[in-house]
Amino acid sequence: MPSAFDVASVRRQFPSLAVTDAGKTRCYLDNPAGTQVPQRVIDRTLEALVEKNSNLGGFFSSTVQAGKLVDDAHQAVADLYGATSAEEIIFGQNMTTLTLHMSRCLGRQFKAGDEIVLSRMDHDANVAPWLLLAEDKGLTVRWMDFDPETFEFPDDALTKVLSPRTKLLALGYASNCTGTINDVRRFCGEARAAGVISYVDAVQFAPHGLVDVMALGCDFLVSSAYKWFGPHMGILWGRKDRLQQTFGYKVRPAGEDLPHKFETGTLSHEGMAGCLGAVEYLASLGTGGNRRAELVSAWQAMEAYEQSLTQRLIDGLLPFKGLKVRGITSANAVHRRVPTVSFTVDGVDPARLAKHFAGENIFVWSGHNYAIEPCTRMGLMDKGGVLRVGLAHYNTAEEVDGFLSSLATALR
Ligand SMILES: Cc1ncc(COP(=O)(O)O)c(C=O)c1O
Repeated sequence: MPSAFDVASVRRQFPSLAVTDAGKTRCYLDNPAGTQVPQRVIDRTLEALVEKNSNLGGFFSSTVQAGKLVDDAHQAVADLYGATSAEEIIFGQNMTTLTLHMSRCLGRQFKAGDEIVLSRMDHDANVAPWLLLAEDKGLTVRWMDFDPETFEFPDDALTKVLSPRTKLLALGYASNCTGTINDVRRFCGEARAAGVISYVDAVQFAPHGLVDVMALGCDFLVSSAYKWFGPHMGILWGRKDRLQQTFGYKVRPAGEDLPHKFETGTLSHEGMAGCLGAVEYLASLGTGGNRRAELVSAWQAMEAYEQSLTQRLIDGLLPFKGLKVRGITSANAVHRRVPTVSFTVDGVDPARLAKHFAGENIFVWSGHNYAIEPCTRMGLMDKGGVLRVGLAHYNTAEEVDGFLSSLATALR
């Protein structure tokens, strides 16, 4: 393990990692479905509820403080995403709700016969909203297909389906099933060159790597704070000119100013405070002259640590008879995947395995995990999907080894 990353000090900051059930420690390998929160998030949330609990826009002290808190939360996520302005940051209930909302807003400019490109690798939250839009507006859907042997998109996956009528590309940054990190920069560049709007689902990538919206060249990017050690909220970034041009479904008193045009109703200010706390926590793991620089250095250390843990897990899985990792396994390509590792074992129901692990207080998920398209593409929908194990930077080599030895017991 790289010595730069002090996992013991990280773990001390997460109170839930010390929680036990009937004396048994918890092993959280359910991170792709949601991560634990550090003390900083809890403190920020509490502070918001105790000292800054007010609606926005008034003259008295709590409303002024709440306003400042909400502004700080926008700036924090702008720093996390590498956005140039806090106005481009839109908070919402979760990624799914934001995408349902934004698909409707963007759809105002599309007309029957227009085309949209969706991906066979994506979580349904970046598929179903666009399918519904296509149904409402008479759009034609084209699919980017991945290779089920390599678990990656071929380089020409987008070129093959682009046409002069294409209006939008909806693409995942990293898969919540295969764990593949897609070449989003390349595909968004291609979309941009063709005048196509790109909408990136970064929910699985954001807990494991540095998001840089400017470098990616996308138009929209969305992730969920509860996957990156924050509370249950989703946050969308949109390129300023795109947001300004896009119709906003909103009530009349809400003006055209960003980001309020797309932040409908009163949001969870305590949730936004928690998001601020999560970004502060992440930045505290790095060094640098400003928060973005701290985040850049924090991700470098976390990535190296996570990659070594991921390879330990994969190398431990591969020798099991009948076990297939449904994702990239090569150590040379570990940087092209997140530590979300799905596998199947011939003749074994993934739910049976998940129950076995629950009995050992090892938390994992089974099934399709809303990755309907990838599971269908891999022929796993009628086989119970996959067993999914997902690491975060607070997991340890001992936990990985404990999981593997428990798997050996289950399969004996
Ligand atoms: C890749 C991906 N996209 C979207 C979502 C949906 O996120 P939310 O629960 O914030 O709607 C998830 C949730 O697991 C996910 O993994």
